[in-house]
Amino acid sequence: MDYKELILKLDQTALPRHVAVIMDGNGRWARLHRMQRLKGHKKGVEAVRKLVEVSVEVGIKYLTIYAFSTENWRRSKLEVNYLLKLIMDSLVNEIEELDRNGVNIRFIGSRKELSDSYNHRVIDVCRKSWHNDRLYLNVAMNYGGRREILEAVQAICQDAQAGKIDLSMLSDEIMNDYLYTAGMPDPDLIIRTSGELRLSNFLVWQSAYSEYWFTEILWPDFDKAEFIRALLDYQNRERRFGARWKG
Ligand code: FPP
Repeated sequence: MDYKELILKLDQTALPRHVAVIMDGNGRWARLHRMQRLKGHKKGVEAVRKLVEVSVEVGIKYLTIYAFSTENWRRSKLEVNYLLKLIMDSLVNEIEELDRNGVNIRFIGSRKELSDSYNHRVIDVCRKSWHNDRLYLNVAMNYGGRREILEAVQAICQDAQAGKIDLSMLSDEIMNDYLYTAGMPDPDLIIRTSGELRLSNFLVWQSAYSEYWFTEILWPDFDKAEFIRALLDYQNRERRFGARWKG
């Protein structure tokens, strides 16, 4: 079945509000096509564009993509620099189109290891889209789930010391307010490509009740039809959030 046929099968009333994607397999895609690893990342950007287009088309409200993890600094200097530049260049090249399509774009992650000029540039470019509300697109950049929790705990301790919050009143809701994803719903569906069955430090707190969908497809080959297949599979699941079976 092709994309147009698949899309007709979607139940518009039961879409996941928040989809998060671990884009894996760029390096293997490049090897398979006898290319340099970096070409796999470049090709991966085209798959990101398709993912965003479908999300806007079907009406997904929140989309989070794992672009660069706190662990990715361990890759070669060449690859790290290439990825940082590719992500920035893609943002700059796409911002007008994203804005036209009602996409509100935000980078989530730690600013610590990134240069001040990189961080300022990101804010400068993203700001152009902040009046939009059709799709909220989070780019997880220098993101680590454990780091996010640690930074939240540090901020909570500072606020407690300053008398701004009472630690005995700490709750899931208050914790949520201190995460990079403050104000957003938890991901309903987490997609990972390339056949790996791991969370890899992605949205560790927020994924407590997420549904997972894994595909063997390598990220650069992830197309619109495959995304709709993931959404259709999600719609066939029964989510109970720890409650008992019905009936
Ligand atoms: C994982 O594949 C992919 C990444 C670490 C980078 C993902 C980044 C992009 C697709 C760039 C586009 C991003 C934006 C925001 C435009 P891998 O290198 O781990 O692949 P392998 O496991 O096959 O080696």
